Amino acid sequence: MKDILQQLEDRRAVARLGGGQRRIDSQHAKGKLTARERIELLLDEDSFEEFDMFKAHRCTDFGMEKQKPAGDGVVTGWGTINGRMVYVFSQDFTVFGGSLSETHAEKICKIMDMAVQNGAPVIGINDSGGARIQEGVASLAGYAEVFQRNIMASGVVPQISVIMGPCAGGAVYSPAMTDFIFMVKDSSYMFVTGPDVVKTVTNEVVTAEELGGASTHTKKSSVADGAFENDVEALAEVRRLVDFLPLNNKEKPPVRPFFDEPGRIDDSLDTLIPDNANTPYDMKELITKMADEGDFYEIQEDYAKNIITGFMRLEGQTVGVVANQPMVLAGCLDIDSSRKAARFVRFCDCFEIPILTLVDVPGFLPGTSQEYGGVIKHGAKLLFAYGEATVPKVTVITRKAYGGAYDVMASKHLRGDFNYAWPTAEIAVMGAKGATEIIHRADLGDAEKIAQHTQDYEDRFANPFVAAERGFIDEVIMPHSTRRRVSRAFASLRNKSVKNPWKKHDNIPL
Ligand code: HXC
Repeated sequence: MKDILQQLEDRRAVARLGGGQRRIDSQHAKGKLTARERIELLLDEDSFEEFDMFKAHRCTDFGMEKQKPAGDGVVTGWGTINGRMVYVFSQDFTVFGGSLSETHAEKICKIMDMAVQNGAPVIGINDSGGARIQEGVASLAGYAEVFQRNIMASGVVPQISVIMGPCAGGAVYSPAMTDFIFMVKDSSYMFVTGPDVVKTVTNEVVTAEELGGASTHTKKSSVADGAFENDVEALAEVRRLVDFLPLNNKEKPPVRPFFDEPGRIDDSLDTLIPDNANTPYDMKELITKMADEGDFYEIQEDYAKNIITGFMRLEGQTVGVVANQPMVLAGCLDIDSSRKAARFVRFCDCFEIPILTLVDVPGFLPGTSQEYGGVIKHGAKLLFAYGEATVPKVTVITRKAYGGAYDVMASKHLRGDFNYAWPTAEIAVMGAKGATEIIHRADLGDAEKIAQHTQDYEDRFANPFVAAERGFIDEVIMPHSTRRRVSRAFASLRNKSVKNPWKKHDNIPL
């Protein structure tokens, strides 16, 4: 009996070594952790339960039958993050470069099926040379099996991808279908075709970092949601993110103990809005001043900075925040910000996360590049996302809410539950100057008359009261009491129940 127990221990020890010490050392030399070290950092201590440690590939081509490492290049199982269950797979680059074989895919699919069945998030740590070249179509089939599961799990359990090495070819499409993608600076890459193929086909010379590094995907393409310095930081941030999220679409997000008075007054907010309506201010100041303990978890911080998206807590409850940022492009909506915010709103709605919208928007960004790029369809994504969302929606207009952008930003007309405005709000079809130049075109040569018309327009519309008279604004609130008013609003909406008409699925303008 003792011998058998020892045999098991020996087998486990070999499996844990993956592709062997030499390759582990080479992984470390690149500043990367191994698949198992990553899981240890991601999960609570001693909480990992592994599946399929001894599963091996079945390939017999190219001499593969002679090397059958236990586990086949991916470590899979489940564990906890701050006591809450998650499923995880972590590709082991030391085994055939973490490449995906038929059996490697089967291991991933097994934990994805369990995650959906048991209602817990899936976290995928990607570090792989792509399809296992020796296996051919069996490997491609494996990828597609994973893709299909990503699609079925979407909106059922949160899916998070961490890119910690190469991720090329069709392999990028599994992460692309998950809810969040985190990358590590200088050691992770995502591209459909690598630099060599790019050079052959287009004659472009580009480095892997420029083509698909963390900076490219968080600043230019918006494929990734966050870029971190190293493996340790990225995994710590995944833990922080998971703490905001429900385990599945039937559960409410977790409620954390909080040590911040929900009725806390912040007098500094009364002077946040500058006297000059064209002077920018930092909307993040309002967000952090409202949030429990000033804690804000930003998503896509480096992309389309004219809109801010992320999570905060109010009375310990997760709230998704969407806010125009007057510091960038005056807070205009454009193609990139509409796409960014629309995806975030839809994520929140999938997972019952209430949405707080902070509005200071002078309209949609004009111009040929926007129109040629399809701002109509992209702007409609955000409009559509807000309009279909059935989660609690609380909106605060701090300053400008002009034109179509007023409608889009979770207005009363898109089923906003609480629509508040600060006394500094200006709710109108457009700014006073632009409006005057259109409706008083005949007076354009007369500066005095134009100034008077502009002043008249401002007096009439540069305030929240016209909208409040109609009930489009439920209440004009004091800036200093925003946290209290918004916390109470969300508290009153905890049992909100709204259903959209039955449909197979909607047809959001993609
Ligand atoms: C089998 C692979 C492999 C692969 C790497 N290895 N990629 N084995 N299939 N796809 C093995 C290597 O043979 C090597 O084995 C070990 O992994 C480490 O690889 P190195 O090249 O030494 O490492 P490095 O220099 O860091 O380069 C990593 C790499 C490179 C950039 C990922 O290996 C590479 O370009 N691999 C091929 C990538 C690729 O073209 N994949 C197919 C993409 S198409 P030893 O024994 O020496 O340690 C695709 C289609 C998916 O994925 C479609 C889905 C729909």
